[in-house]
Amino acid sequence: MNLLGSLFTSSIGRKFMMAATGLVLVGFVTGHLVGNLQLFLPPEKINHYGHLLESLGLGLWAVRLFLLASVVLHIWLAIQLTLENRTARPQGYAVDHVNRATLASRIMARTGLVVLAFLVFHIAHYTVRVWHPEWSEPTYLLLDGTAVRDVYAMMVQGFSNVGVSIFYIIAVGLLSYHLAHGIVSMVQTFGLKNENWTRCLERLALVYCWVYFLLNAAIPLAVLGYLPFLSGLIQR
Ligand code: HEM
Repeated sequence: MNLLGSLFTSSIGRKFMMAATGLVLVGFVTGHLVGNLQLFLPPEKINHYGHLLESLGLGLWAVRLFLLASVVLHIWLAIQLTLENRTARPQGYAVDHVNRATLASRIMARTGLVVLAFLVFHIAHYTVRVWHPEWSEPTYLLLDGTAVRDVYAMMVQGFSNVGVSIFYIIAVGLLSYHLAHGIVSMVQTFGLKNENWTRCLERLALVYCWVYFLLNAAIPLAVLGYLPFLSGLIQR
């Protein structure tokens, strides 16, 4: 069988692809967070950034398709691997091993599903702008005179809705929890199995996930006025 085929048919190949697609998605959510933090800078910055991304045209669509393929593959492989594990031990363990697994690892499917539901809502909200078609209008003038979409005002208006902000905070909380186990599992699949290193890796992953969560949550919380210093940076 060729290499590509065995990536999808063998158990180790599936695990590898699960880790590889996970790596792509961690890379995306980290980059996306860095881009979003520009909300704490003058509006020119994030509006210019949004315009730059849009002007990539076909390149942007290629990246979107690649990300979509990674999400679909990640979920499909997760289902395959879960079914495989169940077939391998249909009776379950004679001794309850549940305590050995962390809560994060046991609820990966559930946290993943909530993140997926969030993603569908999020794309409808900010990318397709189904509830606010006016967000698609080029109403902001960059310093060089180019009229672009006002991504800054869109974010401020979007997060001024308390319900929307709460949903975002819950979703990024669950995503961070999902990543806490996912990152460790991913690095182990890529070959790091030593126990001392694993403990160190678990701590690093936990720090990363807390920082990721707090920075993401800071965006809606600052818009709602709950973080004195950061809220003062938001221009309305
Ligand atoms: C507080 C957290 C977040 C904020 C403030 C935020 C903000 C945004 C904004 C403003 C856009 C539209 C960009 C534009 O109009 O040019 C967007 C698009 C998007 N976001 Fe987020 N986002 C957050 C969290 C997330 C998370 C956790 C994920 C993934 C699980 C995610 C995935 C996406 C995707 C896939 C798009 C579509 C990108 C595209 O149109 O090409 N976002 N986000």
